[in-house]
Amino acid sequence: MKSPGERIPPKLHSTQEPASAAGLLQQARAHERVGAMLEAVQRYTAAIEAAEGTGERGVLAEALRRLGVVHHHRNEGDLARSLCQRSYETSLAIGDSVLAAEALNALAGFDFESGAIEQAREKFYRALELGGASAELRGRTEQNLGILANIQGALAEALAHYQRSLGAFESIADDRGCAIAYHNLGMVSADRELWDDADRYFHRSLEMAKAIGDVHLQGLGLLNHAEVHMARQHYEQARQNAEAALGIFDQVGSRLDKADAYKLIGRVYRETGRHALAESRLRSAVDLAVSTGSILSEAEASRELALLYQSMGRNQEALKLLNAAHRLFGRLDARVDLVDVSTKVLKLEETYFAVVREWGQSIESSDSYTYGHCERVADYALGVARELGLDEQQQTTIRIGAYLHDLGKVRVPHEVLNKPGSLTPEEFRVIQMHPVWGLELIATVEFPWDIKPIIRWHHEKYDGTGYPDRLKGDEIPVNAQIICIVDVFDALTTSRSYRGALTVADALGRMQECRAWWRPDIFEAFLRSIGRMSAAA
Ligand SMILES: [Fe+2]
Ligand SMILES: [Fe+2]
Repeated sequence: MKSPGERIPPKLHSTQEPASAAGLLQQARAHERVGAMLEAVQRYTAAIEAAEGTGERGVLAEALRRLGVVHHHRNEGDLARSLCQRSYETSLAIGDSVLAAEALNALAGFDFESGAIEQAREKFYRALELGGASAELRGRTEQNLGILANIQGALAEALAHYQRSLGAFESIADDRGCAIAYHNLGMVSADRELWDDADRYFHRSLEMAKAIGDVHLQGLGLLNHAEVHMARQHYEQARQNAEAALGIFDQVGSRLDKADAYKLIGRVYRETGRHALAESRLRSAVDLAVSTGSILSEAEASRELALLYQSMGRNQEALKLLNAAHRLFGRLDARVDLVDVSTKVLKLEETYFAVVREWGQSIESSDSYTYGHCERVADYALGVARELGLDEQQQTTIRIGAYLHDLGKVRVPHEVLNKPGSLTPEEFRVIQMHPVWGLELIATVEFPWDIKPIIRWHHEKYDGTGYPDRLKGDEIPVNAQIICIVDVFDALTTSRSYRGALTVADALGRMQECRAWWRPDIFEAFLRSIGRMSAAA
């Protein structure tokens, strides 16, 4: 959800400057409030020039900061920072601690949006210390601290900050402050799945935002309320809200918010089975996110689009997007310490597993005898990997490789796959193509995990008698050997078109006879792992 807290322009402070610079500042604010951004920039710039001429440093500090915030919304981060930094220094020079705190608040907001959470928190607390005497500033800073607590999952703490913030705004009858406080209370209620509370807060917020003519806040309120409608599966209402929000964001030129609105509309279409519409909206969301440079937004929109492709059976495309999103998160991780990034990465990896699992299972359905094969191979293989002490990354590789190892079997004719009795040499040659075909199917997909060797070589044998490349010894990657051994075990212990299932003991006996197929330590690790599993069963 979008958080408006860090974007709230404060009220004017009582300063005694001549009307002209202050008047320009007022005009600029009026333009900003109705979303006329070009005019707002013009007036702020004029106010700065006028104040510099007359030496009204209070007005100057204020105009600098507000112009900085506008540039921030227009995605001009460096300019935004330098304007707010100048505002901070100007305020300190004239000893106006409240104005200095305002500038800190804005700078903290930029830190927050770029994911530098701790820097943001430190600046917010410094702002509270400097300018806490102003109820208006206190209200807003408490709100921002609430937002920080919220994204870090400390919901009770967030609620307390928001309520303190609402109290501060009410004490000075600040309708706009109250509208935002209600908005945030709505969001924290939604996070706690208190839908009725969320509805109520969002309604209050929207009414107040309309009354004071704040279009951007109306847009955010509509969009976040749409999330509540989504959660309740009130899709049409969610879509209407998001479309209305989109119109508003279009008007105020906020591309990142537009990306979020498109994402929500796309989700509605996806959930209601309107695939073509869903695809076009989610594509727009990704494109807009890319154009604003928001990695987080791009990764999330990509994940939503991947879910659409998954539901349409377009698995290659789904995986391509998930891989891209995974890479984006990797970049983000190195750069910022946004705590909820790890939650988002987990969610992404869950989606990833769901896609590969489902894809793997779709192959099984064409081969009625191997139902559940991929899942079991994955379980057994992970057991062996752990026995061998392989790390998380390798375990993930093996798990995904296990789901997809037989992908190429989709090209093997059904009658060959399910043939009772023995195969002709020609049929056997067809079966032996499946590792190669599997690789062809994912040729254009760049995985974050090295699974291609597993797919190609899971039928290679240590003594050089396997296929398709007749690799020998350590030419065969360990991961592929692991899948190979558990694949054979699963084939022996389940019934097939050509024979019934063997007991575990019989299967292990058979495998002992051909132990030259696997590297000795892998064979031993396999035996230990099966022993452990049988003991646990
Ligand atoms: Fe296979
Ligand atoms: Fe297999």
